[in-house]
Amino acid sequence: MLTLSDVNTHYGQAHILRDVSLHVGAGEVVALLGRNGAGKSTTMKAVIGMVEASSGSIHYRDQDLRKLKNYQRARLGIGFVPEGRRIFKKLTVLENLASGRKPARQGQEPWTVERAFVFFPKLVELQDRLGGQLSGGEQQMLTVARTLMTNPDCLLLDEPTEGLAPVVVEAVTAGIKHLKDQGIAILLSEQNRHTAAALADRIYVLEKGQIIYAGALGAMSAQAHNTLGW
Ligand SMILES: Nc1ncnc2c1ncn2[C@@H]1O[C@H](COP(=O)(O)OP(=O)(O)OP(=O)(O)O)[C@@H](O)[C@H]1O
Ligand SMILES: [Mg+2]
Repeated sequence: MLTLSDVNTHYGQAHILRDVSLHVGAGEVVALLGRNGAGKSTTMKAVIGMVEASSGSIHYRDQDLRKLKNYQRARLGIGFVPEGRRIFKKLTVLENLASGRKPARQGQEPWTVERAFVFFPKLVELQDRLGGQLSGGEQQMLTVARTLMTNPDCLLLDEPTEGLAPVVVEAVTAGIKHLKDQGIAILLSEQNRHTAAALADRIYVLEKGQIIYAGALGAMSAQAHNTLGW
């Protein structure tokens, strides 16, 4: 579904991603693991076009993403949930959700507010609350739910559980599991071992912009263990 082959990126003179190759199959949850600054966010930004790849290829289905503008990439059904919470503080939960709405592609069951509530039931009681008055975890759920309203087939979730209390991590993890059950392909960046273990079919470990391990979390190499500090 999503395939990166030998992708390199630069910020000015700094060479960040180095020959990154990875693959997310239809309906798969793949975790991208690595310490702060390893290049997880940069990898996702290269997919959606916020960062330009200097070489390599990025394909989504049969489309060469590097030839497409950012809005054209989004239209293909790739949803990106950035790090931190990006909600509208002055809009209610319901208005935030409505603001994400985009048409569904052919053959897709469109996401509605009601359907998003099934995945994040906590948002039901909060629907009239202003975004700015939600806790961090609630804002995270809202961010994911709002991205669902764009009817994605593939979700890029950048550290969705970062900085959340354990009980909220569980709620967000459960929501993501439900999405997987709906057949949405997910690339998830994480630093939390338990979340990765609970969700990921396969993992990639990034170190200084390079993939140093690809495979099952349970079979990680010593180098991968070391770099993650797990
Ligand atoms: N806009 C930018 N300009 C210059 N350097 C950047 C920029 N954004 C990121 N970097 C650098 O690129 C490298 C990779 O950053 P990236 O944000 O991809 O890491 P990350 O794995 O997502 O880290 P974290 O876990 O802290 O979010 C880091 O060394 C970072 O300092
Ligand atoms: Mg990041």
